[in-house]
Amino acid sequence: AVDLAVDLAGARLRSPVMTASGCAAAGRELDAFTDVAALGAVVTKSVMRSPRSGRPTPRMAETPAGMLNSIGLQGGGVDALVEHDLPWLAERGATAVVSVAGGDPEEFAEVARRVVGAPGVAALEVNISCPNVANRGLVFACDPGSSAAVLGAVRAAVGDDVVLLAKLSPDVTDLVAIARACLEAGASGLTAINTLLGVDVDVRTMRPRLAVTTGGLSGPAIRPVAVRCVWQLRAAMLAGLLPEAPVVGTGGVASGVDALQMVLAGASAVQVGTAVFADPTTPGRVADELGALLAERGFASVADAVGFAHRA
Ligand code: DOR
Repeated sequence: AVDLAVDLAGARLRSPVMTASGCAAAGRELDAFTDVAALGAVVTKSVMRSPRSGRPTPRMAETPAGMLNSIGLQGGGVDALVEHDLPWLAERGATAVVSVAGGDPEEFAEVARRVVGAPGVAALEVNISCPNVANRGLVFACDPGSSAAVLGAVRAAVGDDVVLLAKLSPDVTDLVAIARACLEAGASGLTAINTLLGVDVDVRTMRPRLAVTTGGLSGPAIRPVAVRCVWQLRAAMLAGLLPEAPVVGTGGVASGVDALQMVLAGASAVQVGTAVFADPTTPGRVADELGALLAERGFASVADAVGFAHRA
């Protein structure tokens, strides 16, 4: 049997398949359908310092290719997460990866500091790439300097031993430069990708379907974009242009085949997002299918297959 356990820069996960941030709040929504303790991790919805109501509705729109959202980081704030949600996940035996966000590097650092002591937290994902904030003003991930400022502040706040994944945006011209800035400033690994900015127009009302016009596109439409980003990061590492670090692949993963593609392109683990809305058991199925596909190909572990497609 294939060993499905993975090690992400020191974070030991029992499975390479996690939920993606934003698709199941802090995991309770999955509890009736699936064993949260069997997941690689539950990646929680990005949390900020204070409760937020998010952007005006409508803020979700489905299209045949994927889903658009402009939620705008709605949530209950970090105190509620630390006091209610993380203890619940720990009691269930689940591993948590906590996605943290902020309006400036200091807020990211403060939220991270509040979260790291909580039980069951294997890593923090630093969400520098939410596209749904006014004027994209919170998208630190478009600029290497802003990305480094956030990762540096969070690293200084949490100390050396906490695993930090920087969540990258696909809407950038030089992904490798931004990834390098994140890793040099203290990220332990990278998650690629957040949603891709999109617009959908309702031809009946002849207006945009989302109240704020733009939204983040997720689901099948962005899967090859996500594979490209993972590929590009891995290729840069192999070429010595980027420090070696684990990459977590996310974007349209809905099957074992999709997950295997991510792994062969360079991902050490994957996240399932949009597919969870249609079927909350998808992450478990993806893990089972990935295990069978790796076994068929003679791999003994996930790690043995990471980046295999780059080999000459
Ligand atoms: O597509 C996204 N939507 N990405 C994020 O990082 C945050 C989320 C939101 O809350 O708008």
